[in-house]
Amino acid sequence: MISRRRLLQATTATMATTAFGVSSFYRLRNAKSAYQSETLIAQSITANILDGKPATRNVFTFGKSSPPTLWLEQGQPFRAILKNELDEPTTIHWHGTRLPNDMDGVAFLTQPVVYKGEEFEYKFIPPDAGTYWYHPHCNSLEQLSKGMTGLLIVRENQDPGFDIDLPVNLKDWRLGADGQFLNFYKPRNSARSGTYGTVRTSNWQQAPVYDLPAGSLIRLRLCVTDVTRVFVLGFPADAIATVIAMDGNPVPKNFPVKNLQLGPGQRADIAIQMPTDEGQELVLTNYSSSTPWDVLTLRSIGTSVGRDIRELKKLPTNPVPKADLSNATHIPLVFSATADRNAANPVCGDIGFSFWSINGKQGSGNGSTDPIMTLMRDQSYVFEFINRTPHIHPVHLHGMSFELLKSNKRPLQRYVTDTALLLPDERMQVALKPDTEGDWLLHCHILEHQATGMTGFFRVE
Ligand code: C2O
Ligand code: CU
Repeated sequence: MISRRRLLQATTATMATTAFGVSSFYRLRNAKSAYQSETLIAQSITANILDGKPATRNVFTFGKSSPPTLWLEQGQPFRAILKNELDEPTTIHWHGTRLPNDMDGVAFLTQPVVYKGEEFEYKFIPPDAGTYWYHPHCNSLEQLSKGMTGLLIVRENQDPGFDIDLPVNLKDWRLGADGQFLNFYKPRNSARSGTYGTVRTSNWQQAPVYDLPAGSLIRLRLCVTDVTRVFVLGFPADAIATVIAMDGNPVPKNFPVKNLQLGPGQRADIAIQMPTDEGQELVLTNYSSSTPWDVLTLRSIGTSVGRDIRELKKLPTNPVPKADLSNATHIPLVFSATADRNAANPVCGDIGFSFWSINGKQGSGNGSTDPIMTLMRDQSYVFEFINRTPHIHPVHLHGMSFELLKSNKRPLQRYVTDTALLLPDERMQVALKPDTEGDWLLHCHILEHQATGMTGFFRVE
């Protein structure tokens, strides 16, 4: 078997020769962390999104190209300075991380917005390892649609043994044939499953091909940062690929990448053993639309390095507080349509319609409404998410990870998550034990649904 040093060299050569300019997304085993401190400059750029078409103007990002993947170490302090050079206010929310409430990035609810020319310092210590992401929580539908979504990886203290870590940001863009942005929503779609993009990208590229050492072990980290699309993903049946974590947390039992539903906000970590023959490809396909399409391709290059997927260590469980089910308060949360009109929030992007509600109320998510309810710290709760609509809603809770318990529609693995994909008419029970005071949002991550009422917050005391 090839030594680790040789493999690093082989991979560096691969990175140099890759035809797709994607090497910056690769991360080598044992490579030294580039930073624990980062400056993120929110700005507007021109970028090539649509192959062979004029560049897209007014793309929003952090930095000068696509938002950087941030690499944190579990239990190690992290600091990020947000500098805003956009002509509008913004913030950063660290999706899925457990942190102090004033670091959660929700405009008005947990912090003042950051106006043009201003800075804000975020500081926290990530207690949980896994795949997370970051994005604004201010005028979210527009700012995320325009590109402000990046991955945040928290590495385990013990190396599970992959050769290459490959984070992938799955995002659609609503562009016209001229490569310029279309309206981000149509109200009639917002009142249904949402408005889809026209251009599908992985790491801002259409159907990229990643050249990887034959026979190597890959950690593919998929993150749906799109504001609307629920993916249904699959690898070919003979691929050696298995889901090892969902939404940052290890799953109790690994499962094959087949009809893997992944909604906005969700992540899947997939362990892959690359085929041993040079040129062999693994295509990840999305089956959610009537014509399946390629999301990305992994291609084996070089002579096999001979790794075996069984060499990987099991991911350690994250230290998320566990609810006591024998002593838990039961809280029903009904997601439904509404006809009422909601007050507008002109600073941070109310889109002026109200279609959805949680427990009969449309939230603005900016603190201008009352909490859904107050929860007590260190008490156990079972939430029952009740979907009274014919649409899917990825329900995201800030700052408190919860455990999936059961559903009236399907068997559920009891994994820990921050985003539950609620199917049409589904009732799902989840358990949690809040441990951090503050105001924590609960909202649908189909951002048109969030912006038109499917949002609210819990106060933890
Ligand atoms: Cu991805 Cu309220 O967040
Ligand atoms: Cu929704």
